[in-house]
Amino acid sequence: MDVLAFLGSPRKKGNSEMLTHALLEGVRQAGGSAEIIRLCDLKISPCISCGGCDKTGKCVVQDDMTPLYEKIISIDKIIVASPIFFYGVTAQTKAFIDRTQALWNRKRLMQESGEWTDNPERRGFFISVAATRGIKIFEGAILTMRYAYDAMGMEYGGDFLVTGPDKRGDMEKYEQKLAEAREAGENFILGQDTHVD
Ligand SMILES: Cc1cc2nc3c(=O)[nH]c(=O)nc-3n(C[C@H](O)[C@H](O)[C@H](O)COP(=O)(O)O)c2cc1C
Repeated sequence: MDVLAFLGSPRKKGNSEMLTHALLEGVRQAGGSAEIIRLCDLKISPCISCGGCDKTGKCVVQDDMTPLYEKIISIDKIIVASPIFFYGVTAQTKAFIDRTQALWNRKRLMQESGEWTDNPERRGFFISVAATRGIKIFEGAILTMRYAYDAMGMEYGGDFLVTGPDKRGDMEKYEQKLAEAREAGENFILGQDTHVD
């Protein structure tokens, strides 16, 4: 598997999902393979800030996040897709991100013991849609995603952001954006950064 894509919308077959499928088409066209994980199908509790991972780099909470740690560690390319909810990512996406605190501690501990090697191949991509066109509409979510990928030991490898779609299916009308998303998917798998909004 080349790409792990997390869908963060609670709405199935929604706009961010359609955009993600277009981008993954590009990934496949360029010869890559992808696995999609829908966060709203999983039970991922919020981080309880117990400090357990500070010493071990492992999360003490056992739930559907537990098997995802190994998947995240062992893949070089991740996509997170989330619509904008109140200028940020969805609650499902945020719970997932907060639980990557264990990976941030894992990285810190490995750096302290000299076991950590940066791998420039490891890149995270962000896909988002928002109904409105506020100039700062994606700013908060991008900052969250940059820091989340840092915790996962990845560079921020770009984003694909669309303003306008609101109702389920609206994304279909944005044919040009869907075509650009396919191209962005090809670039992502080939290691070229994309930033589109
Ligand atoms: C709880 C909630 C909060 C939202 N907050 C915003 C917002 O702050 N700004 C905005 O432009 N759109 C906002 N939206 C609209 C969604 O971003 C938009 O409907 C998007 O297309 C949903 O994508 P999806 O189909 O992938 O879920 C919000 C929608 C919901 C349900």
